[in-house]
Amino acid sequence: DIKGFAFDLDGVIADSARLHSKAWHQTADTVGTTWTPELAENLKGVSRMDSLEMILKAGGHENEYTQAQKEELATAKNTQYLELVKTLTPDDVLPGMKAFLDELKANGYKMSVASASKNAPTILKQLKVMDYFEGIVDPAKLHAGKPDPEIFSLAADVLGLAPANVAGLEDSGAGIQSINAAGELSIGIGSELSEAAVRFDRTDEVSLAAIKAKLA
Ligand code: BG6
Ligand code: MG
Repeated sequence: DIKGFAFDLDGVIADSARLHSKAWHQTADTVGTTWTPELAENLKGVSRMDSLEMILKAGGHENEYTQAQKEELATAKNTQYLELVKTLTPDDVLPGMKAFLDELKANGYKMSVASASKNAPTILKQLKVMDYFEGIVDPAKLHAGKPDPEIFSLAADVLGLAPANVAGLEDSGAGIQSINAAGELSIGIGSELSEAAVRFDRTDEVSLAAIKAKLA
């Protein structure tokens, strides 16, 4: 029985995946890596430094930068990302997700956040949705990011629930793998998530009734 939900943030609650992409696209241009839709998709759910490594590798530039230069590139990306984040308001909660959070709250489900982003608290505050959640997993404390199960296991701990009683929501392939490996019910939002136990094309399709219908 599902008693709680662990939410990814970027691309699930917040319309911020496009802002990450915009900022990383600029990084790719800076280092001379061609930006492709495939690269953009593969970066979803991946931590800041791992994302930079993937961008460098995609262009064969992985050996051209020192650790200090890599940290500078990552900091520059985050500075630009935070500029874009300033424009986010409660209207940038993705379609239907506020209603879904309200539905879960009204029905006594517990909620936590399992985002790879160190900026998650900032964004949740800006979207005015912080109060829905029992807690947020701190990605700085992880030994391994998505697709490792650690973050979604910790998101179940935050809820005080066994993984079997938790459903995870994700827009990334790495995130769906993390949920599955944690032994939770995976709910994918997006077209490319074939490993998700339940899948929706868009956030505005997600509701308790729609999840139950897909599981039946
Ligand atoms: C994930 C995003 O939620 O967080 C990634 O999907 C992002 O695109 C990652 O790179 C890390 O975010 P931040 O804000 O800590 O750089
Ligand atoms: Mg995401």
